[in-house]
Amino acid sequence: MSNETIQAVRGMNDILPDEAGLWLWFEEVVRDWLHGYGYRNIRMPLVEPTSLFKRAIGEVTDIVEKEMYSFEDSLNGDHLTLRPEGTASCVRAVLQHNLLYNAPQRLYYSGQMFRHERPQKGRYRQFHQVGVEALGFAGPDIDAEQILMCARLWKKLGLRDVTLQLNTLGDTASRHRHREKLIAYFAQHTALLDADATRRLHSNPLRILDSKNPAMQEIIAGAPKLMDELEDEALKHFDELQAILKRHDVPFELNPRLVRGLDYYNRTVFEWVTTRLGAQGTVCAGGRYDGLIAQIGGKPAPAMGFAMGVERLLALVQEDGMALPGADVDVYVVHQGELAGQLASKMAEQLRDGGLRVLLHCGGGSFKSQMKKADGSGARVSVVIGDDEAQAGEVAVKPMQGGEQMRVRAQDAVATINGLIK
Ligand code: HAM
Repeated sequence: MSNETIQAVRGMNDILPDEAGLWLWFEEVVRDWLHGYGYRNIRMPLVEPTSLFKRAIGEVTDIVEKEMYSFEDSLNGDHLTLRPEGTASCVRAVLQHNLLYNAPQRLYYSGQMFRHERPQKGRYRQFHQVGVEALGFAGPDIDAEQILMCARLWKKLGLRDVTLQLNTLGDTASRHRHREKLIAYFAQHTALLDADATRRLHSNPLRILDSKNPAMQEIIAGAPKLMDELEDEALKHFDELQAILKRHDVPFELNPRLVRGLDYYNRTVFEWVTTRLGAQGTVCAGGRYDGLIAQIGGKPAPAMGFAMGVERLLALVQEDGMALPGADVDVYVVHQGELAGQLASKMAEQLRDGGLRVLLHCGGGSFKSQMKKADGSGARVSVVIGDDEAQAGEVAVKPMQGGEQMRVRAQDAVATINGLIK
C-alpha cells in the first residue's frame, strides 16, 4: 500500500478552523439579512440529472460545454452532474413540489457549487454561493428589492468599492431580432473573429459581445445594439427599475455589454463588481428568468434571482478589515490534582448550563503551562482549581485582561463570571 500523503482535489479548498470563524459569522449575517426580506430557506441535492443543467443553462455556454462535473452512475447508468449553480435545481424543486401552486415564493439556498474552471485567486472548482430566487413575481419592484437587498448586505459586511452594473436583455422577440442582426454583422467580418467567436457565430452570437479579446473590441463596439430592438414593455420595465433605484439613492452604471454566461436570462441582468480582487471581480450576479420555469416543464411564471460568490465576498471582507466578533470562548478551566479534575469537569458542565462557552483543559501539565493555553484561547475568564480549592468546594476565578483573582464557592461561579463578562 502506498503511504504517500493525499492532497485535496485541485481548486477545492479546505476551510480551516482559523478561517471558519469568518464563514460562520458571514452565514449568520446573511441569514438575518435574508429573513429581514421574508426569504425562506430551501435545500436541494448537490447532484442532479445532467439534462436539467443542459436545458436550463443552455447547451452552448461555457458551463455546459466545458465546466460541468458530469458522470455516469456506474450502478444504474444515470447521467448525473455536480451542480454548477443553484437556479436550475431550485426551479426543479419548486416545480416538483408544486410550491408555486397558490402563492409566489421568495427562496434562498447556500452551499457548494462545482465548475471545472482553471483555478486562480477567486476562481475555484468547488466554491460556495448564497442564491436568492423570487418566483412568480413579474414587476420591476422585485428586481429593485433584490438590488436594494444586496446594497444593504454590502453595508452590513462593511464593504467598500462594490459597484452595480445593470443591463436589460429584452424579451424573446427582440432577442431573436438582435441575434439575427448580430449573426449577419459578424458574418461580414469573419476574418476578424477569433476561434471562440467563430464557433459561437451561429450557436450563441450574443456571447461574442462578452469576449475579453482585445483584438475583437473594435468589431464588438460596432455591433448592432439590443437597445435598438427592445420592445416597449421591456423598456418600461427597465425604466421603472431605474427610477426605483434612483429614489433609493442606489448608484448604478448601465452596461449594454453585460450579457451573463447563462442562457436563461431576459430583461434585467446585473452584476456587483469590485476592482480589488483582480480578474475575478464579480462578487454577485443575477437577473430575471421569465422563461425558465416553462422551459423546465412548469406552468409559465416570471422569476428573478441572483447568487453571490462567498469566497470572493469574504476575500473583500478581509481586505476591508471588518472587525470580527471576538473570542469563541468565555471561560477556560484550569485544574491540577485528581479531586480538582473531578470538580473541574462538573464545573465546566455547570458553566455551560449557565449559557457560557467553556474550554476545559485536557491533557494535564503544570498550572503555568495551562495558564499559557488559557491566555492563548482568547477566553475572558479562567477558572483555576487545585485540590485545595476542590476540597473546600471552591474555585478561583481570574479575569484574563487583568484584575484581581477571586475565590468563590463553586455554586456561585456562574454568577460571578457573568458579572465579570457583562
Ligand atoms: P453566476 O454568475 O454563474 O450566476 O455565479 C454567481 C457568482 O458566483 C459569481 O458572480 C461569482 O461571485 C461566483 N462564482 C461563479 N463561479 C465561481 C468560481 N469558479 N469560483 C468562485 N466563485 C464563483 C449563477 O450561478 C446564477 N445561478 C445566479 C442567479 C440566481 N441568477 C438568477 N438566480
